[in-house]
Amino acid sequence: MMVTRVFSGIQPTGTLHIGNYFGAVRNWATMQDDVESIICIVDYHAITIDIDPKTLRHASLAMATDLIACGIDPEKTILFVQSDVPAHTELSWILGCVTSFGDLSRMTQFKDKSEKQAFVSAGLFTYPVLQAADILLYLADGVPVGEDQVQHLELSRRIARRFNSRFGELFPEPKPVVGEKGARIMSLSDPGAKMSKSTGESHYVGVMEPEASIRKKVRSAVTDMGLEAGHEMSPGVANLFEVLELSVESTGETGLVEELRADFENGTLMYSKLKDAVFEQLMAIIRPIQEHRAQLEASGEVLDMLHSGAQRAQAIASETIARARSMVGLGTRAD
Ligand code: TYM
Repeated sequence: MMVTRVFSGIQPTGTLHIGNYFGAVRNWATMQDDVESIICIVDYHAITIDIDPKTLRHASLAMATDLIACGIDPEKTILFVQSDVPAHTELSWILGCVTSFGDLSRMTQFKDKSEKQAFVSAGLFTYPVLQAADILLYLADGVPVGEDQVQHLELSRRIARRFNSRFGELFPEPKPVVGEKGARIMSLSDPGAKMSKSTGESHYVGVMEPEASIRKKVRSAVTDMGLEAGHEMSPGVANLFEVLELSVESTGETGLVEELRADFENGTLMYSKLKDAVFEQLMAIIRPIQEHRAQLEASGEVLDMLHSGAQRAQAIASETIARARSMVGLGTRAD
C-alpha cells in the first residue's frame, strides 16, 4: 500500500506490552525509514478515564522512553506528546460538528470501556473524534495500528469525507496499515480476549518486564491437553505460535518454527518446548530493548527530544488548523 505520511498514537497509561509492540510499535520503527512518520503519545485521550495527574506526566515521559528504546528514532520520526500541540483539541471540536451521534454510539471500544467505568465521561464517548483530529491534523494518509483500531479509522474516514463535502477538500482519507501477523495478540491467560494493559498482570507480557517474570508468564500460558495427531490448534497454542513467528522475524530462527509446527502436526509437541522457545526468542528481542532503555534513562535526553518533536509537529499542525478555521469561517481574521 502506498502511503506518503503516516501517523499513529499510543496511550501513555499502563505498560507497553508485546501486543502493542508486534501490532504497532515494531511496524512504526520499520516504516520510519521509508515514509514521513509522526508518532504521538496521546495524553488527552488518557484523561477520558480517571487518571492521577501526578502519574500522567511521568507516564508520558516513560512511554516516550519505551518507544525510543524499541527503535523509534526521534531524528527520523516526529515523536511528541499530544497536549504539547493544543491544535488537536481545536480540530477535534470542529470535527465533532461533522460527526454523527449515531456513528459514535456504534463504537465497540466505547461500549467495552464504558461498561468498566462508574463515571462515563462525554470525553470517552467523543474519543474517536479526537483520534480523527490527531490523524487529520497532519494530513496523514496511512495509520499503522493493531486490529482493534480499525473501526475508529473507518469513522475517521467518514469524518474526513463529511468535512470535505461540507467545507471543501482538505483532508485525505486515512487508511489503516495493519500487519499480516501480530494485529491481534491474545492474552496469555485468557486466549479468547485481546492482550491488553487493563485486564491485569497475568494477561500480558510487558516489554520492560524482568526476565524472571516473563519466563513465569510464558510458562503458565493457557494451552490445551495436546498430544494427539491432527487435533485442531487451540487459540492459546495458536497465539504462542504467532508470538514465536513474530519473534523469529527479528532473530532469524525460522527453522525453529518449522520444527515445532511439524511436531504439532504429528501430535508429539510438548508445550513446554514451545513455551521455552517463545521465551528464548522473545528475550532475544527484549533484552537489547531493555538495555537501550536503561541508557536512555541515564542520559536524561528524552524530554528534549519530545520538545523538539512537538515543535516539528506544531509547524505542520498550525498550517492545517489555520486552513480548517478559514474554510469553516471561524474567527474574525479572513485570509
Ligand atoms: P493503544 O494505546 O490502546 O494501543 C497502541 C497500539 O497498539 C495496538 N495494540 C495491539 N496490537 C495487537 N495486539 C494487541 N493485543 C494490541 N493491543 C494494542 C493498538 O491497535 C494500537 O495501534 N486509540 C488508540 C490511540 C490513538 C491513535 C490515534 C492511534 C489515539 N489517536 C490516532 C492511531 C491514530 C489507542 O488507544 O491505542
